[in-house]
Amino acid sequence: MTILQVGAAVLRRRADHVDPDKLTSPKLGELIEVLRAGLVETPGVGLAAPQIGVSLRVALIQDPPQFHARVSEDRLAELERTAVEPYILINPEIEPVGDERRTFFEGCLSVDGYCALVERAKTVRVRWLDPSGDYHEALQSGWHARILQHEIDHLNGILYVDRMLPRSFMTTLNYADWVDEPLDKVRAVFGV
Ligand code: NI
Repeated sequence: MTILQVGAAVLRRRADHVDPDKLTSPKLGELIEVLRAGLVETPGVGLAAPQIGVSLRVALIQDPPQFHARVSEDRLAELERTAVEPYILINPEIEPVGDERRTFFEGCLSVDGYCALVERAKTVRVRWLDPSGDYHEALQSGWHARILQHEIDHLNGILYVDRMLPRSFMTTLNYADWVDEPLDKVRAVFGV
């Protein structure tokens, strides 16, 4: 399976609404399996259908504890990053709750090898259908809220590079030098 890279037109298109009457179609089931397999093959905290060339409003989100092993306790706390079991969102709707914003580094499997600081809402309200057709509504905060904002952006043809603080854009290789530094220091060095 190939994860499409920036420059693929489908990543810039508003993905199509999934007809709720077709949730049980084998085609949708297959898409969900491919998304799941994709995140096993190429570990990440989320994958949206357009990233594998399917322009539908479907995304998979996860943040398993093993992803946290290389992150310091202090940084996990700063990011408000907690384990998230994998789940599928179909036709999600998202809105910020409150005015609080957070700025952290994020990357994307479709902009492979880079990351940048992105300001996001700290808390969001999200509504979605699961593959069984059940409706859900939840309030999420911290890193989970960031993942949701990033993945739902994909369904609207938006990439983090559209929202990043441009001077913080860097290779993941160079980011390794900054990952444990206080963000204030990183921002001062890069002038953002
Ligand atoms: Ni992405």
